[in-house]
Amino acid sequence: MKKIFRITLKTLGIILFILLVGGLLGWWYLSSQFLDFEDDYVQKTDIPMVTIGGHSFLDRNENGELDIYEDNRQPIEARVEDLLSQMTVEEKIHILKGSGMASGLGMVEPGEGIPGVVGTIVATPRLGIPSINLSDGPAGLRIEPKRDGVDRTFYCTAFPIATLLASTWNTELVENVGQAMGNEALEYGIDVILGPGANIHRHPFCGRNFEYYSEDPLLTGKIGAAMVNGIESNGVGTSVKHFVANNQETNRNYNDTRVSERAMREIYLKGFEIIVEDAQPWTIMSSYNKVNGTYTSESKYLLTDILREDWGFEGLVMSDWFGGNDPVSMVNAGNDLLEPGTKKQWKALTVGYEDGTLDMDAVDTSVRRILTLIFKSKKMTAYNYGENPDLEAHAIITRKSASEGMVLLKNDDVLPLEKGQNVALLGVYSYDFIAGGTGSGDVNEAYTVSLEEGLTNAGFRVSPTANQAYQKHRAANEEAFEKPEGMSAMFNPYHPPEMSYDSNLMETIASESDLAIITMGRNSGEGGDRVVADDFLLSDKEKEMLSTTCDAFQKAGKKVIVVLNIGGVIETASWKNQPDAILLAWQGGQEGGNAVADILTGDVNPSGKLTMTFPVHVDDHASNTNFPQNGLPMQIKDMLLGKDEVPEDEMVQNVDYTNYEEGIYVGYRHFDKANLKVSYPFGFGLSYTDFAYGDIETVQENDTIKVSVPVSNIGKTNGKEIVQFYVSKDSTQIDRPTQELKAFAKTKLLGTGATDTVQVKIPLNYLRYWNENSSQWTLEPGKYIIKAGASSRDFKKSTEIKI
Ligand code: BGC
Repeated sequence: MKKIFRITLKTLGIILFILLVGGLLGWWYLSSQFLDFEDDYVQKTDIPMVTIGGHSFLDRNENGELDIYEDNRQPIEARVEDLLSQMTVEEKIHILKGSGMASGLGMVEPGEGIPGVVGTIVATPRLGIPSINLSDGPAGLRIEPKRDGVDRTFYCTAFPIATLLASTWNTELVENVGQAMGNEALEYGIDVILGPGANIHRHPFCGRNFEYYSEDPLLTGKIGAAMVNGIESNGVGTSVKHFVANNQETNRNYNDTRVSERAMREIYLKGFEIIVEDAQPWTIMSSYNKVNGTYTSESKYLLTDILREDWGFEGLVMSDWFGGNDPVSMVNAGNDLLEPGTKKQWKALTVGYEDGTLDMDAVDTSVRRILTLIFKSKKMTAYNYGENPDLEAHAIITRKSASEGMVLLKNDDVLPLEKGQNVALLGVYSYDFIAGGTGSGDVNEAYTVSLEEGLTNAGFRVSPTANQAYQKHRAANEEAFEKPEGMSAMFNPYHPPEMSYDSNLMETIASESDLAIITMGRNSGEGGDRVVADDFLLSDKEKEMLSTTCDAFQKAGKKVIVVLNIGGVIETASWKNQPDAILLAWQGGQEGGNAVADILTGDVNPSGKLTMTFPVHVDDHASNTNFPQNGLPMQIKDMLLGKDEVPEDEMVQNVDYTNYEEGIYVGYRHFDKANLKVSYPFGFGLSYTDFAYGDIETVQENDTIKVSVPVSNIGKTNGKEIVQFYVSKDSTQIDRPTQELKAFAKTKLLGTGATDTVQVKIPLNYLRYWNENSSQWTLEPGKYIIKAGASSRDFKKSTEIKI
């Protein structure tokens, strides 16, 4: 017996030992390859200040002389050339890749970095060049709010998600949001914000649509450029991502987008092109996927021929995190910076230099671009990081922009509400409001205002019985209500179970309340796509909650409002007749609940409009057969360690490759061409007031068509109208969409009876199509119709021009 016991104990001991050694070895491997491998490249902190000929400067290389690159009176180009000439090959290669993921995982020694900074440009200590901090993301800065040994917090503002911001169609407002977001980066010592996202909503199920603006490239480009201009006005950079045709999360690191050149140029590249033209961002992030067989980060055609040569992009391209396959091909193609950087990439570049496959001209070009960014950054100035951005002021901007991007979908004489009423708040998301999506687009904010709080702040009384039902439900499902934290929150959207109300309880709630508000929530994010059941479609519980509520309340002559706290399109056609009003609140950031209350009370008249179509059925989308329907979870192992190429005959459709068979027929371009019914069309949104459009006028001046139309507020409430200008070509030799958005404008806040004449410019080159025969943009001569509309299916005035 004793012997058996001894043997068992010994075996257990050996197993434990193996596990321990295995664990330690695994950790050592991970750490030395991916986290922290930069012992010799630590930022120099004690650079001496020297004065020569009355000019004081930081003697970065400590040679006692004023080098051109040290002289801040010199132009950046001259400083870059001088510095480049002093760098060794090793230093050049070294700066092409980041320093690993350690700070991204919060692993920084106190005082030595910023926890949560997800990537860096490495320092060059011999020459006194500092390291540069890169942080996510599109809805606000993402850094860790707490630091070891520091007795304060570093929260950032959770601004509304990108889709909501685009739904404002207000470039000035988006620029203001960008200014605030960039200011947080500046004050916290971040040099580049990894955003905005400019991918197209090709299909409603892409898990990251909330980080992107629209199904339309013009709107994407204009809103994206406003965001870039706003952020960069602070002297910090942006990284417009993910370049390009990265429209699904399923197998996102290896999927091959198979797409026509015309769809690339007119749809997927167009938004990026407009951003480059209107905002010349500091950086662009290449995407994970391949396009027609080549990783975007290894595609000279995309990164050099199109981006640099055709469009004149001057900034640098960085990879997405661990993206691309072959570091040498990446640099040779024009992917200047590999993020977050791994030891393997470093070695591969060194081997490429030794065997001559790494093009040293390309290396110099990339290093030049990286150094230019460093010289532009505040790290090369004596900027005193305040570390205390005005979070209260930014919360006000968040609330304002959130309410302006919410879209009123239905209103049968119920809104705006009189304050002070007794409201039954139903559904878990009324109490647990979602500020934004998950993944790198998530923000560590100090608080999120729920709808319950928002309505209470606005002077409503919230039904105690409904509230108690929620509390009871929460207590009974304690575990499911635990919000994932840290890394786990990155890839696990929070989905607490929805409530059921029996009809007796609902009747009691109805008898105690003046009206009901049901919030329906959805949460998605990086690493996974959405699905039909319980996501695009309402779940059985949601359907039941809606019916039970409508039965009890409407029978008692009381109204029911549905608030959609979602990040992407859901099905609405089958149930929208049930409630009296539907407000698409999107995910409004940390002030979401207050912003919804602003709309419901009429303190803010809704003026948001849809930036995508809400279809009747998801399979009405032309892209539906070529989109993964059962989104596979992300494989972190494959992302870190790489994956073997799948042989062509073993490839799985929509996983290993995706055929963009619909070509340019994305979103309303398809629904209009195929003359399909939709639940809500692109560009749709209601107001509490009405607008009348005067006659549309056009003047053609050189290469631009100037279009104007007077818009009057003929209702009883102040409001803003979004005027959309669509262009059609009636007789055409080519296959083209029925109409395409070519400009838009938002009126100022119009008092009742007031008129604003909106004016837009349509460059003639926006009317061109990509001619696949000649591989160039072509302008078809003839008659074009310009229509001014309140949505893509509600045209008010039109006119013709001849070209
Ligand atoms: C995402 C990027 C993000 C990066 C850094 C990647 O997984 O695709 O959008 O900027 O991580 O967090």
